[in-house]
Amino acid sequence: MKYIFGNWKMNHTSTEARQFVAEFKRQKLPQDTVFGIAVPFPYIKEINKKLGKKCKIGAQNVSFASKGAFTGEVSAEMLLDCGASFCLVGHSERRQLLGVTDQQINQKLLQLKNFNITPILCVGESCEEYKDNKTEEVLTRQLKEGLKGLKYADVAGMIVAYEPVWAIGTGKTASLRNIKRNLSFIRKALVKILGKHDIKVLYGGSVTESNAEELLSDSSVDGALVGGASLKASSLVNIGRNIRR
Ligand code: PGA
Repeated sequence: MKYIFGNWKMNHTSTEARQFVAEFKRQKLPQDTVFGIAVPFPYIKEINKKLGKKCKIGAQNVSFASKGAFTGEVSAEMLLDCGASFCLVGHSERRQLLGVTDQQINQKLLQLKNFNITPILCVGESCEEYKDNKTEEVLTRQLKEGLKGLKYADVAGMIVAYEPVWAIGTGKTASLRNIKRNLSFIRKALVKILGKHDIKVLYGGSVTESNAEELLSDSSVDGALVGGASLKASSLVNIGRNIRR
């Protein structure tokens, strides 16, 4: 099974979102592939109603708190209410631009657990950390701190996305060798932290229909988290189609 999750980020008007839905519905989906899209909050409910049977619909963020005076935040309970089945946590744009910390990520995971929403935990090193050979150190910290105090059962079903920050939206991808090495490192770290694991680990960073075959066909790569190329239904589905089985 391969997992192809899109992340629209802050893109698409509601008209464009509807066009996407219509186009996605026309697509014949490849077998053994789970599709999902993390859409902006205002669209979750409508898109889930229209597309939820063909494709998982999720959110891009959740509050670390359960309710109360947190202006602008959206709780896990509200996400569930709107039909979100998964939620991105710790995307590098939120870590970097909005100052989300590993500790908050830990709280967000707990919130999602309380409402049975599958987290997609995003981890990855920055360009500088990559150049300084600090990738493993960064991944270890993000996983250890993010999962602190959590048991395997607390995050059952969780997916981890390895997204080197320097590959996101840049057109540069990590090499397959690099992806395989870091995915294997992440799996070992998860075993150390959670005891056991059958957690799916995806790659993210400039995945497109043209590089999907090369980057995602290896059996150790469970799939991809896709930004830019997820904005068009056909290109998202083609990523799934182009993976060799
Ligand atoms: P990208 O984004 O595919 O546009 O590089 C990936 C992501 O941010 O998840």
